[in-house]
Amino acid sequence: MNDQAERLRSLVAKSRQEETPVRSTRVITITSGKGGVGKSNFTLNYALGLAKQGKQVVILDADVGFGNIDVLMGVTPKKTLADLIRKEATLQDILETGPCDIKFIAGGSGFQDLLDIQQEEFDYLLEQLGELQGFADYVLIDTGAGLNAQTLQLILSSDDVYVVLTPEPTAITDAYALIKMVVNREPATRIQLVVNRAQSMPEGKETAEKIRLVAQRFLNVGISTLCVLLDDPNVSKSVKRQVPFLLAYPNGLASMCITNVVQAQIKGEVAGDVSTRGMKQFLHRMVRLFQ
Ligand SMILES: Nc1ncnc2c1ncn2[C@@H]1O[C@H](COP(=O)(O)OP(=O)(O)OP(=O)(O)O)[C@@H](O)[C@H]1O
Ligand SMILES: [Mg+2]
Repeated sequence: MNDQAERLRSLVAKSRQEETPVRSTRVITITSGKGGVGKSNFTLNYALGLAKQGKQVVILDADVGFGNIDVLMGVTPKKTLADLIRKEATLQDILETGPCDIKFIAGGSGFQDLLDIQQEEFDYLLEQLGELQGFADYVLIDTGAGLNAQTLQLILSSDDVYVVLTPEPTAITDAYALIKMVVNREPATRIQLVVNRAQSMPEGKETAEKIRLVAQRFLNVGISTLCVLLDDPNVSKSVKRQVPFLLAYPNGLASMCITNVVQAQIKGEVAGDVSTRGMKQFLHRMVRLFQ
């Protein structure tokens, strides 16, 4: 085990010494306490919003067994991360191209396999996924609901974590429970809320404020809000049409919320107020968490 840890450390150290890449890759995990709150739709349409602003985005679908970003955008992946881990595919083989040139990687059982991966497979995985550094501006990881070992590992390794919830009391308590578990493990985790399906902007902001106050009081952490997305019947229509709502209904309520947050975020990044550890550091942290 120590030998394995040593080899992994040296591999990551070596990759970190390589030339500074042109782009710094920001790794964001999108998660939720309660299921069905809109993580996958948010992830896909947020990715498209960023792509429309000229960003290269890669979505990793880490929802074991129930991943459905491919269905939402009408793409059928031929290979998954599991094939890459088995060394039966390269990164290029598993990168599917979606609308606006966003890239997509289906997790398959890959993220589950990571938990007891063999040394040789892990070396290969690090080498291949490391290629995303310099290629992607954003890597968005869509997870299943709730906090299992795999999701916690992704959360603790990412630059940012977006917790999606709706204004329903059950979604609020489940989001808080998830935040509490993450903060107990790593208080410095950068968590932001995405309040989805709000009936109005004030309702969405009140929902976020409830969590912010409780987290401040009982966990002593500041939780900010990334955005509020309004409830919009176009979302369900676009799911049925298998065309993302940002493309099918660009002027709809949900699309306007996505466009606003993307624009604000891009402005913030231009102003240089967002620090990024990037893909290499993401891999480095994953290695550390394995030990
Ligand atoms: N802003 C919205 N307005 C209206 N309906 C929405 C909105 N966002 C999501 N929905 C509805 O919620 C459904 C579930 O969304 P989605 O699949 O993105 O959730 P999820 O959190 O990824 O679910 P899971 O936990 O199963 O992965 C969508 O099919 C859509 O009908
Ligand atoms: Mg989902």
